[in-house]
Amino acid sequence: MKFQEIKNNVYYCGLNDVDRPIFDELIPLEHGTSYNSYLVKGSEKVAIIDTMYPPMSDEYLKNLDENGVNKVDYIVANHGEQDHSGTLPKMIEKYPDAKIITNNTCKGNLMSMLFIPEDKIITVQNEEELSLGDKTLKFILAPNVHWPDTMFTYIKEDNILCTCDFLGAHYTFDDVFAVPSKELEVSAKRYYAEIMMPFRVMCKKYTQMIKDMNVDMILPSHGPVHKDPNYILDLYTDWTSDLGKNLVLLPYVSMYGSTEEMIDYLSQELNKKGIDTLKHDIVSGDLGDLAMALVDGTTIVMGTSMVVAGPHPASVNIAYIASVLKPKAKFASFVGSYGWGGKLFDILGEILSKLRLDVIEPVQVKGRITKDDYAKLDAMVNAIVEKHKSVGLL
Ligand code: FEO
Repeated sequence: MKFQEIKNNVYYCGLNDVDRPIFDELIPLEHGTSYNSYLVKGSEKVAIIDTMYPPMSDEYLKNLDENGVNKVDYIVANHGEQDHSGTLPKMIEKYPDAKIITNNTCKGNLMSMLFIPEDKIITVQNEEELSLGDKTLKFILAPNVHWPDTMFTYIKEDNILCTCDFLGAHYTFDDVFAVPSKELEVSAKRYYAEIMMPFRVMCKKYTQMIKDMNVDMILPSHGPVHKDPNYILDLYTDWTSDLGKNLVLLPYVSMYGSTEEMIDYLSQELNKKGIDTLKHDIVSGDLGDLAMALVDGTTIVMGTSMVVAGPHPASVNIAYIASVLKPKAKFASFVGSYGWGGKLFDILGEILSKLRLDVIEPVQVKGRITKDDYAKLDAMVNAIVEKHKSVGLL
């Protein structure tokens, strides 16, 4: 495969992984993903920025041969995770004179996760520069978007920024340049929800920093290259904002229908009051869809049936995932029904307590829903309306 030139001797040398069904064994992928790698040919030195996911390393190395890359002086490791650094051991065998350029935190990761010898690594500080002759690489440490070892590499003369995982998408392509579409936006959002949302505050900071840099292109390590940086930066400005949308998320699991009836009722009554809702069947729904909704939701009402004497385990799993993804939601509550007794919401509340949500009085029903129970659900709806008014959403 002939490498595509991005700009002035900067080439794309990554690969598509079209059939990959899931990432991190957590979020299903709709379009596979790409592992991006960039070849930068300066007048004196040659650098490669990020490498390849290990199962695809043979194809990657073969492509380097076929494109005549006989000598590499520097291999920049923007991040230690194996989907980008996993081919480093083979790269330093193939190019024995090459040095790995990375930051001190990533150096420790490369040594412990990949057994890279210390003498192969040169560490750089924030804003340090490296000359390739007519091109200069400038390294910008960006910890916690998304690992503590993450850094960006700026190619000064071309005004292009390699942003590592930040601003990426699980998406594949024939032409490396992004063509804005709803499909790409959804992939980028799904990716943000899983990988970046836990670090929302840092993402917000670096979104603004990159806007201020006024770069010509953004080269992430998954998904297409952005010739129009504002396309992805504007999406990130929205997703990382402090306030969510006028939206209530209703993830639920219902064994005999009562919990689902409560969720349906809440959805219908909230809609009447001008609040959007998203019902999500935990068992049959796509986890990526829920993760994306968590980017925007202001209130989460979880619905669960009881199993033995506690919440359905599927609802516990979703509460835990939400606590890990750290959405910007501000309010929460619970509904559910039980047969013979137990504690339905304690575990869910404890797990979600990490999010410091303002909890609205839950509704627990024995068996079918009575008139009194509907009155309690009405009270919940009114409480949610007041909460949304209090933050300016209504
Ligand atoms: Fe795409 Fe954090 O690796």
